[in-house]
Amino acid sequence: MKALQCIELGMPDKLQINDIPDPELLPNHVMIDNKAASVNFPDVLMIQGLYQFQPELPFTPGGESAGTITEVGEGVENLKVGDRVVAMLGLGAFAEKIVAHENAVMKIPDSMDFETAAALPMTYGTSLYALKQRAALKKGETLLVLGAAGGVGLATVELGKAMGANVIAAASTQEKVDICMQHGADQGFIYPTGDLTRDQQKELSAKIKELTGGVGANVIYDPVGSGYSEPALRAIAWEGRYLVIGFAAGEIPKIPLNLTLLKGCQIVGVFWGAWTGLDPSGNVANFKEIFNLHVNGKIAPEVSDKFSLINAADAISHLQNRKAKGKVIIQI
Ligand SMILES: NC(=O)c1ccc[n+]([C@@H]2O[C@H](COP(=O)([O-])OP(=O)(O)OC[C@H]3O[C@@H](n4cnc5c(N)ncnc54)[C@H](OP(=O)(O)O)[C@@H]3O)[C@@H](O)[C@H]2O)c1
Repeated sequence: MKALQCIELGMPDKLQINDIPDPELLPNHVMIDNKAASVNFPDVLMIQGLYQFQPELPFTPGGESAGTITEVGEGVENLKVGDRVVAMLGLGAFAEKIVAHENAVMKIPDSMDFETAAALPMTYGTSLYALKQRAALKKGETLLVLGAAGGVGLATVELGKAMGANVIAAASTQEKVDICMQHGADQGFIYPTGDLTRDQQKELSAKIKELTGGVGANVIYDPVGSGYSEPALRAIAWEGRYLVIGFAAGEIPKIPLNLTLLKGCQIVGVFWGAWTGLDPSGNVANFKEIFNLHVNGKIAPEVSDKFSLINAADAISHLQNRKAKGKVIIQI
């Protein structure tokens, strides 16, 4: 089968499309004829050796995909040949065939196409877990989303709206802000790019306070990091929850702890992948909710760009270069 392979760590131009042996079917696993996969920021980090979990070389990147089951291994009970499924793999999705553990595979609704299914798991899975289990977001609260037009960001805009929050989307261009508004954000604004100066940071805090009537945001969702985090935290509401999602801008910020005291707020770590292993039934329940929200028209993942498997390395570059809006899909 054809697969994208990381032979040496580095930028996406080092990746190769190779013919490799089909994966071996194992007990409690299923073989999937892969139809669509999606790109996530961890793919960008993993091929450079910068991710928290690092596979041995060579490896096939790609965390999630959707397709049809073609074979089931010994011991598999709840899945059968012909089922249309989404798989949460962590690794190996940018390939024609996939073998996945039954616990990492879920049937998708009949009305859901494969590209939509592949766009859902990591982004909506992370964001629902963050808003529901970690922040306990309440109806009527204000939710500020940084990097709001990115994969997890746009999922958060939609889920926040579906949960009844007043959503403020922050992103680096007007085009990105517009997409957030189309996906339900109540308000949006543009923040600067590059290393933020002290004045730009003060303006960022002031803008959030202005848009929240001086009260601050009750919940802040931060997948960006670097110089954006501290000014956002300075504009959190009393007893707010600051969700630490990731550091797409590159730097892990160091935060003065006195801010948590002054705001009576919480800084809350979010590691969806770890939680799915610790609470698999909680994750399945969250996905039932995500699928229902899609079937009922409350969420609709934005797919901004599609690439073929042959051009999968370009898909990863696209995300890395801050060009993606919503999700980037690889059609297999
Ligand atoms: N904690 C978890 O469980 C979990 C799960 C999934 C993902 N994540 C993390 O969440 C982050 C976002 O992932 P994603 O898949 O949503 O990525 P994405 O689609 O690329 O979105 C990231 C957003 O970050 C912003 N950004 C700011 N500076 C950037 C830079 N220098 N390079 C690239 N983007 C930059 C961009 O928006 P603007 O241009 O508008 O600023 C971009 O839309 C990553 O750090 C990822 O590792 C964490």
